[in-house]
Amino acid sequence: MKTITLINGDGIGPEISDAVVKIIDASGLKIDWDIQTAGADVIETEGTPLPERVLNSIKKNKIALKAPVTTPIGKGFRSVNVQLRKSLDLYANLRPCKNLPNVKTRFDNVDIVVVRENTEDLYAGVERQVDDDTAESIKIITRKASERICKFAFDYAVKNGRKEVCVVTKANIMKLSDGLFLECYRKISENYPQIKTREILVDNLCMQLVQNPSQFDVLVLPNLYGDIVSDLCAGLIGGLGVAQGANIGLDCAVFEPVHGSAPDIKGQNKANPTALLLSAIEMLRYIGENIYAEKIENALFKTLESGICTADLGGNTSTSEFADAIIANL
Ligand code: NAI
Repeated sequence: MKTITLINGDGIGPEISDAVVKIIDASGLKIDWDIQTAGADVIETEGTPLPERVLNSIKKNKIALKAPVTTPIGKGFRSVNVQLRKSLDLYANLRPCKNLPNVKTRFDNVDIVVVRENTEDLYAGVERQVDDDTAESIKIITRKASERICKFAFDYAVKNGRKEVCVVTKANIMKLSDGLFLECYRKISENYPQIKTREILVDNLCMQLVQNPSQFDVLVLPNLYGDIVSDLCAGLIGGLGVAQGANIGLDCAVFEPVHGSAPDIKGQNKANPTALLLSAIEMLRYIGENIYAEKIENALFKTLESGICTADLGGNTSTSEFADAIIANL
């Protein structure tokens, strides 16, 4: 039996992870869940939102499913998510964005995979106050990180039958940093003659995405553009309740939804578990459990097709009723 770390998070985290675990268990797949609490709820007892035992569990099991965790505002707290990604060197942030059945959006045929570099760029946190009126942040782009994220994107494209990997930069202005990212993309692309290449500037990409998103396939971007563009893409397919994600490194992978802990609807049994469920389905594919991934995905699609959905998608089904409906469709 496979052991998987489950971080059930805080806010809506426990409600949506209960729903997702119930669905996976009902599918017949046997998983030994190594449940690790983290976030606001453990600060009082353990003094940190991300205790060492959580990292150790992921290092041991190699795979984790993670519900959202609140980042407490105040001195001394780094985001649990940023800390996790850094500590485990989860260098690739993968966010597939595809239309779901019966989820009404402005566009049909959106099927974009955003591959975001997860470790450097302006998010390296190299900032300083020059004087009272000036602050500076340093954008760090390295050959090593750029080559490995581009390689990840092309490998993903090959493995998943995708046709094109488009690189997104602002290399016309940031000739050195984004220029290096682009240079790495060009070099890596030579090893994948079967995959089409395309280069686009990030501002043009944003305009094209909101006008004609179906022209895009796999996008590979440095960290900051990747963060912004992946939320834009989430908006194209129905919003945060349905946007899945994964953070992947050489040794470990953590699958998590794009959304946060939604404190405004915490404990009300109305959060949409779809984003976490889709992240879990991608996780099952990643560990080779394709049959169960497909079975659960079909049950989710059938449920949405029948018009059952949570409040964020215009329905009136609760989190637990939605999970029960999916289980009935398995
Ligand atoms: P949020 O994503 O938690 O919520 C934004 C809005 O979307 C809220 O109105 C919320 O009710 C709604 N929403 C989010 N997920 C939903 C779902 N599954 N079903 C229905 N509605 C949903 O963003 P916010 O409020 O900015 O952040 C809250 C906390 O979450 C912060 O402490 C933030 O640091 C943390 N956070 C954690 C993340 C993670 O663990 N990966 C990612 C993003 C934020």
